[in-house]
Formats: sequence, structure tokens, C-alpha cells
Amino acid sequence: MTETGKTGGKPEERARVLRELLHRHNYAYYVLDDPEISDAEYDRLMRQLMDLERAYPELITADSPTHRVGAPPLDKFGTVTHSVPMLSLENAFNDDDVAAFDERARRILKTDDPIRYTAEPKMDGVAVELVYEEGRLTEASTRGDGYTGELITQNIRTIHCVPMVLRTDGLSTVPSRLEVRGEVFISIKDFRRLNENRLSMGEAPFANPRNAAAGSLRQLDSRITAQRPLDMFCYGIGLVTGMEFDSHYKILQTLKTLGFRVSPDIKPPSRLNEILLYYKDLLHRRHEFPYEMDGMVLKVDDLRLQKELGEKSRSPRWALAYKFPPSQETTQVLGIDIQIGRTGVSTPVAHLRPVTVGGVTVSRATLHNEDEITKKDVRVGDTVLIQRAGDVIPEVVKVITAKRDGFQRPFEMPSQCPVCGSGLVRLPGESARRCVNVNCSAQIKGGIVHFASRGAFDMEGMGEKLVTRLVDKKLVTSYADLFLLDKAVLAGLDRMGEKSAQNVIEAIEKSKEISLPRFIYALGIRHVGEYIAGILANRFKALERLKSATVDDLMDIDQVGPQVAESVRAFFENSRNVKNIERMLAAGVIIKTTGSSSGRALTGTTFVLTGTLDSMPRSEAKARIEALGGKVATSVSAKTTYVVAGKAPGSKLAMAKALGVGILTEAQLLDMFLRGGKQ
Ligand code: IVH
Repeated sequence: MTETGKTGGKPEERARVLRELLHRHNYAYYVLDDPEISDAEYDRLMRQLMDLERAYPELITADSPTHRVGAPPLDKFGTVTHSVPMLSLENAFNDDDVAAFDERARRILKTDDPIRYTAEPKMDGVAVELVYEEGRLTEASTRGDGYTGELITQNIRTIHCVPMVLRTDGLSTVPSRLEVRGEVFISIKDFRRLNENRLSMGEAPFANPRNAAAGSLRQLDSRITAQRPLDMFCYGIGLVTGMEFDSHYKILQTLKTLGFRVSPDIKPPSRLNEILLYYKDLLHRRHEFPYEMDGMVLKVDDLRLQKELGEKSRSPRWALAYKFPPSQETTQVLGIDIQIGRTGVSTPVAHLRPVTVGGVTVSRATLHNEDEITKKDVRVGDTVLIQRAGDVIPEVVKVITAKRDGFQRPFEMPSQCPVCGSGLVRLPGESARRCVNVNCSAQIKGGIVHFASRGAFDMEGMGEKLVTRLVDKKLVTSYADLFLLDKAVLAGLDRMGEKSAQNVIEAIEKSKEISLPRFIYALGIRHVGEYIAGILANRFKALERLKSATVDDLMDIDQVGPQVAESVRAFFENSRNVKNIERMLAAGVIIKTTGSSSGRALTGTTFVLTGTLDSMPRSEAKARIEALGGKVATSVSAKTTYVVAGKAPGSKLAMAKALGVGILTEAQLLDMFLRGGKQ
């Protein structure tokens, strides 16, 4: 057995080793943030295990890392009663509240000695419980009403930092049952990316990271949850058997050893005055954290004292949430204008009298869409409450109607695009009005920014500011023009030196070699976000095949509905788009196909033949495929590029359909031979 999981051993042994390797690398990457192998290597190991499990379904175990990609959808969630109720916390809003809490605790404990508290950030996410039996994750649930929650095991398994199997390094015992509690959340950066993606697909954005996390956990289809960037910090336990603890801090340390992600910002047991200083420090640094916190939680560290203190009906007497003051402020709306995104979606934005919220000056806030303005009845001149969550775009929470003095003017959504003057039209079922002109410069700019963004061509330096200048100066009219940019022209732009121009040119050059999923995503096809782009790439394997796919071919894919299918078809029917692609390829863009090492036309392509072929024996078809560099395999797996279905095809055809593998008729195969193997 080697590090890479290659082995000639028995399938069950190979599966076991691959599982262990994947768990280990997953832990290194997602919990320790210290990967030991490349993403490509990890993906390769994962594919090996998937192939193995497909070929031998009996080898699939409940703790297999392949479950991280999600499982078939449920009809509804089951429910579960928590063995120890999941209580909530009493809130404190100032130091006096905390002092009163501490006094009450000492009164109950009949002591004048200082109590030592462990303090933790209070994460703003969703509380969940994970159950491990004999070291394996068997069940996960939401908090629900504190007594009964919903079973979301499939969804929790998709969260990479949640161990499926406990780590046992250096531990003498492993609990036979362990209930771990914590907060599932989405980091601010991931939240922004997620919303950007949703907007690009015409979906409503989430209001804040907490809603995004909650919405993601509520999916009956865990394959959707698997696409969401969920993270988790563990902060406590429920019932444990087979392990004893005497301190809360030690519980957190043990959870870390067992493989869980625990906040790196825990304050070890300390006296109250130090805990209060720690709170001030957290509050001060609040906006520097990559995720949202809404306060600090302090917990009596000594578990004997915790037990003695007990609980009130809904909250323990040994823990307290010291909340941060909300990042909200009131200010005045000076005006409302419209921003046009890359798909033509118009977003009303309020211009505000500048105000400091959570340490940052805010002068604009999103009003999301027309319906939001109507619902909140926001008028120009209104005094409004605004809030800033992390470094997410500030939003208007509500109007302070008591401050109205009769001078406020209701806002009317324009019927024309403020950028190009074309119609702004609201299509049935959509909350946004869209600019109908595909040549609108705002849409062109948005499209190019998207094209160059991280999940797409990833051209460093090609952000909104530079794109705006390039488009305004007519140096670029479509994303294909980016590859023709000249260093001297770039260097000639205001505020752009020789060095920056050189960096941009290098970034463009570097981006030219791109994977198919990224390429498809970059095109900015409506309703095709990163997830769907990956699915399309996997099914069609080559751009040419996607280009010629019919609506029916597209709808054949589970995750693709009529909206996506029509949109993809319409994109490739538009000759401008096709030309742009041709120009990019002519400018040297290379779409990497995994596994292919160039050379002959079918290099890297694997065929499986099933059924009888009319025009030649199968042996001849095999020889011709091999002559063109292709491979012919006997069984269908995710690695198969095409299954060629002759007359009376066998179960291989069904397998191909189930796996989303491309299917060719005999005529199509002959056609391919005639074209020298061009797909
Ligand atoms: S301890 C009995 N610790 O806050 C103790 N809770 O209102 C219960 N939360 O439902 C929770 N970070 O979702 C605890 N470090 C932390 C937390 C935390 C966030 C949430 C949790 C809970 C709510 C309490």
C-alpha cells in the first residue's frame, strides 16, 4: 500500500485504506487548515473510492467520506428527542448584568471564592448536536425546541470539518456514546460568494450568513447542502458514556483531540475581571474575524459547580451570553439609485448620510429589490435603521416612521435602465427588474468581472475598477478581448504603472489554461453557477459536446431543469457567444481535460461498448478507438467518457444513465471515426 492509496489488494482492504487516507487529509485540510496533499490528489483518492464503491456497493459504509457529496433526497426529516435538552442562554448586555450573574452563582454555591469561567466567542449560526456511537457519527440533529430536533444526519455529513470517525491519537479511551454540540455557520467571505452566485443564477440572496447556514441545513436534498460552504465550531457536549470530565475547558481540549473544530479564540479558565477584559478585546476585534459573532459566552469551568448550579426552565445558571451591542445605526436616506448587475438585474441602493456602524463609515445600503422597498416603504428623506453584519453590504432594516415630517418622497422604480436607457422589465415570477439590453455597458462590465473572478478565470487584478476603465475606454467590449490586451495600452491607463500592467498581463497569461467547469462557469450563462457548471462539465466532458447538446440532452441530467437547459441552449445558439469562445480559443485559451495528455484525438477518452453493432464486430470498434488514442473498458464507471449502445444493449446502458455518462449511438461513433476521433 502506498501513500496515494494505490494498491493491488482486495477491494475491501483498498476501500478501508482509501477511507482512512481521505479522513486524514480531510482533517488536515478542514480542521487543521494545514493540507498535506494537493486538492487534485485528494480528488483523485476520492474518485478511486467512489469508483470502488460503485463497483462494489456492499463496501459502502455509513462513515465513508464519499457521503460528503450528499445522498438521495429525503421526503421529510425525521425527529429525535435530545437525551439532554439543548438549553438556550440568558443574555447580558453590560458588565453589571455579568456581575449580577456571578453574584447569584456565588450565592447559590454559598461561596465568596472567585469562580473561574471559560469564555468563548458566541457564534451566530445554527445550533446542532452530533451523536457518535463507538466512535462513528450516527446521527445529527437541529436544536429544534430544545427537547426535540430534526434529524439532519445526511446534511451534517457533507460538512467537511465534521469528523465521521473520531480520532483516537493518544487517548486511552474513546466514549462509547458521545453527543457533541456546536454551531454551524458560514464565513463572511463564503457568504458573499454564495450570494453572488445566487444572484448570478437569478435566485434570491440570503439576508445574512445565519439565514444562509439555516437554509442550507434545512435542505431535504443533501447534495444541495454539500455545495454550501458550511463550517462548524463545537462548544460543548450532551450525554457522554465511557469518558469522564471535570472541567469545561478540558472538554473543549478533548473535542479538539477527537478531531472536532473548536474556536481558536477560547479564553482558558480565568477570573471574572479577566473575562470582562477578554470581552472588550473580542468586541474591539469583532469585525476582524472571518465569521459573525454576536457576543461572548462565559461558562463556569468546574463541572461539579455547574451541576450544583443547575438550570432554570430554559437556560443553565452556569452559563451566560454577553451580547455585543448590535451593529445598527440610524441615518437618513439622501437618495436612491439603481445598480445594474451582469445579468441585467437592477438593485436599488440607498445613499445615506454617512454614519459609523461597528467602526466603519457607511454611506450606502442595499434595498435588495422593488418589493423590499414597497414592503419597508422606504422613501427618500426617511430616517432609517441600518445594520452591518460583518463586512457584508449594509442593509436598511426599517424606516423610523415617527421621524417623518411630510417632506419624504416615495421612490418609484424606473422603467428605463439608468445606464443605457433600455427598458427595465420585470418578468413573471421574478423579484427583480432587468435591463433588456445585452449590450448595456453595466452588463458587459459585470460579465467581464465575473469572467475574471476567482471561481472562473481567476485573473488577479482584473476587478471592478480596472474593468470599468477598460470598458469605458472601449479597450474591451467582451471578455474575449481580455486576452488581446496589450501591456503598453494597460500601462497607459491612469493610475496604472508599468509594474501593475505587467502583473495584469501575467495574470491573464496564467489564466489561459483552465479546467472545463471553470470555463463553463466563466461564460456567465444564466442559471449556471459553479455547481451546475461542474455537472455539465462532468456530463459532456468537452465544450464541443456541451455546445451541441439539445434541451433534451441537457434535461437528461438529474440536476438540470428546463430553465437551465433552455438557458444553456439559448447561450450557444447566440452567434456572438460562439464567436467570443472561438476568439478566446484562438487567443490561446486551453481547456484542460483531466487525464488527457494531448496527442491523438481520443487520448484520455474511455469507451464501453454494449449491445451488437451493425457495421462491424466489437473487436474492430475497439481497435479503431485504440488507434485514435482512446481506451475501451469492460465496465462502466464515473471515469467512462462514453458508452456506445448497439442493438439490445445490456445493463451497462442503464448504468451509464445512472452515472450520467455520455451515451453514443453506433451512428455517432461512426461519425466520430469519420472525423478522425473529433468529439
Ligand atoms: S452554549 C447550555 N456556547 O447560542 C449552553 N452556545 O442562546 C447552551 N451559541 O443555542 C449553549 N456560540 O446556538 C454555547 N460558544 C457557544 C455558543 C453558543 C453560539 C448559540 C447556541 C445556543 C445559543 C444560546
